[in-house]
Amino acid sequence: MDLKITDAVVAKFKDKDSAKPRFRKLYEERPFLEAYAEHTNLRVKDNPKGAIGREDEWETHGKLQLEFMIKEGLRPHHTLLDVGCGVGRAARRFVPYLEAANYVGIDISQGALDYAIQLAADEGWEQKGPVFLINSDLAGLEDHGPFNFIWAHSVMTHLPSQQVEVMIKNAATLLAENGRFAFTYKPGDKPKRTGLKQFAFDSAYLIALGEKAGLKGEAIPQQWPAGQRTIRLTKR
Ligand SMILES: C[S@@+](CC[C@H](N)C(=O)[O-])C[C@H]1O[C@@H](n2cnc3c(N)ncnc32)[C@H](O)[C@@H]1O
Repeated sequence: MDLKITDAVVAKFKDKDSAKPRFRKLYEERPFLEAYAEHTNLRVKDNPKGAIGREDEWETHGKLQLEFMIKEGLRPHHTLLDVGCGVGRAARRFVPYLEAANYVGIDISQGALDYAIQLAADEGWEQKGPVFLINSDLAGLEDHGPFNFIWAHSVMTHLPSQQVEVMIKNAATLLAENGRFAFTYKPGDKPKRTGLKQFAFDSAYLIALGEKAGLKGEAIPQQWPAGQRTIRLTKR
């Protein structure tokens, strides 16, 4: 996927941030992931509870994610890797539910992780031993795994195809036997960029990436408030 930012490319974008010079500049001047990490840092500084989703969903969305993962089979004794955990909107639900030391959250934004770590202390769930790490592609996490579940809510929606492919490949090596990697995506007729950090994919493409990594893939009916769809990849 070509990630060059030009006027013609931006003219077709539908996101609000591409009209804001301080955000657009990041993607013009830096490699994609570095730009995106700084984008998140800036948004966390502006408004932490509105930086990674709608502020009015702060209380409800993490709960929704926990309920979904319980439906997927998550139980307190399982290990969970929360990819793109952001400021801890879902961690504050997952961590109290899981047994101690069973949660790892990763993100590319140090600002987001710092907020999540502080939130854990303020809300009293740090004693359950959540681990928060900077990581962009799931590489080098073997010492923290294997994981029964890997979950990425609203992350593939923000990544180009080359990143998505690496993440799925590395997830396959981190999953325990019969482990599941579930993630949301924005549906489109083919892989395409629709904003500075907005991307759409078709389910067949994502399932094929899973199969290439040795995982059984399926689209599942769960939908999310912002219209995202869900894919489940299972280690056979
Ligand atoms: C829209 S937010 C969703 C946050 C969280 N999953 C939730 O739903 O509450 C996306 C998050 O993913 C992070 N992110 C994006 N690309 C990532 C990558 N390659 N690896 C790890 N985190 C990433 C962003 O920094 C941001 O915090």
